[in-house]
Amino acid sequence: MTQERVEGQIHVLGIESSCDDTGVAVVDNNGNVLSNCIHSQLKQHLAHGGIIPVVAKEYHIVNIDRVARQAVEQSGLKSVVTDVDAIAVSTRPGLKFSLQVGLNYARTLAKKYSKPLIPIHHMQAHALMPLLENPTIKFPFIALLISGGHCLLSIAKRYNEFHLLGSSRDDAPGDLLDKVGRRCRLRNLGAPFDRISGGASIELLSQRPGANRFKYFHDDKAIPMLSHPNCDFSFSGYRGNLELLYPMIDELWQKGDQDKLLAELSDICASLQRVILVQLAKKLQRAFMFYRMHWRYENEDAFSNIGSASDHLGFELQEIGEGQVDLVVSGGVAANSYLIGGIRQLCKEELDPKMKVFAPSKALCSDNGLMVAWNGMLRYRDFLLNGKCYSGTSLDYSVVHDPNQLDLIDAQPDVPMGLDVSHKVVAANFRMAKFNNTEFKVVKKQQCQRIE
Ligand code: KG4
Ligand code: ZN
Repeated sequence: MTQERVEGQIHVLGIESSCDDTGVAVVDNNGNVLSNCIHSQLKQHLAHGGIIPVVAKEYHIVNIDRVARQAVEQSGLKSVVTDVDAIAVSTRPGLKFSLQVGLNYARTLAKKYSKPLIPIHHMQAHALMPLLENPTIKFPFIALLISGGHCLLSIAKRYNEFHLLGSSRDDAPGDLLDKVGRRCRLRNLGAPFDRISGGASIELLSQRPGANRFKYFHDDKAIPMLSHPNCDFSFSGYRGNLELLYPMIDELWQKGDQDKLLAELSDICASLQRVILVQLAKKLQRAFMFYRMHWRYENEDAFSNIGSASDHLGFELQEIGEGQVDLVVSGGVAANSYLIGGIRQLCKEELDPKMKVFAPSKALCSDNGLMVAWNGMLRYRDFLLNGKCYSGTSLDYSVVHDPNQLDLIDAQPDVPMGLDVSHKVVAANFRMAKFNNTEFKVVKKQQCQRIE
């Protein structure tokens, strides 16, 4: 991809290395993607039976310079020194060793070429990703983030300000799917299972004709956290439930009874997806109620035009209808069409037919350099327009120009999504209406619209 540098155009280079993907991308201020390069360690980690942090770090070290050079070359820019205006990098949360590789690389570039550095919160970058593809998304919106490391419900008040409603108390859904995929030895099924993630394998198997999503976990009363008046999640219990089924799966593997094995595996995968969806849906329902009945009245400033905060990137903070709210679903697990389809159905049939659901295109759900570059661009443009970043009092939320401050930026493995308001969700203690329909029909691919 090449593109002439337009007079006055701004370019941000984004670097992602928080887990097992080394991603580097370049984006301009009009949201044009000049390059988006990635090196995935998935194959190696599938072979190792999971991500080993020191191994992930080594692969980042080996690949980061090549991926960065490739991204600059593909962008069509002449050089970093003349054409890149700022460098954004994921600094939190994530695997410490992995984050450090990206941060050290970005810091070296920033010092060498005298560029400002923009430290990025990886989960916030996931939440803001869909704005690149669809700038009509309105702040404040609800963000459901489902990935290998996290499960979070939050409200994106502004691009630099998030309120956390709840999170997983144990496994993240992607982690659960990866563990189940490994235990069921899905990669031994051969191509394409030997080169796709556990989550993608489980989605593929559950799409098998005849897959019965009601065969296991059929009693929804057993779904954890549903009676808790919060937006927290819990997914590790399903692993315990599945333990009972593994002897049967092991025996089918031993016998080599391929048809029966595939039938059982696809029933397990479809059932697991459905119970994950029901839990997400119930917590989303509570988040929606909380937003509509409580949050918007306490955060009226988010709905009014308050000057600098609403100017960033030209997005207007538009007044939206009573109770209406956009929903963003992002993170690697949002690549799952069944889950996204079910969430769309829930919003339309149970919450608010006017509610719009946005998920990134599949390739941009999982970790990539573009989401970091884009989050960096949002902050950098705000800085250029207003001389400062919205709520950018800490280094973590600002654009760092001072070379002496670059060494103060640190890789932080555990960092909250934003202001924790989860106690207010509990205090609100909303009685939740029963769903009319929890069947969550299997959504055909073409019905599940993404921003593409
Ligand atoms: O966002 P991500 O790339 O990394 C983290 O920040 O964790 O998410 C990776 C996770 C993995 O657990 C993977 O199994 C899951 O996303 N995943 C999926 C699908 N594709 C990837 N889960 C469900 N369905 C998919 N199609
Ligand atoms: Zn991620």
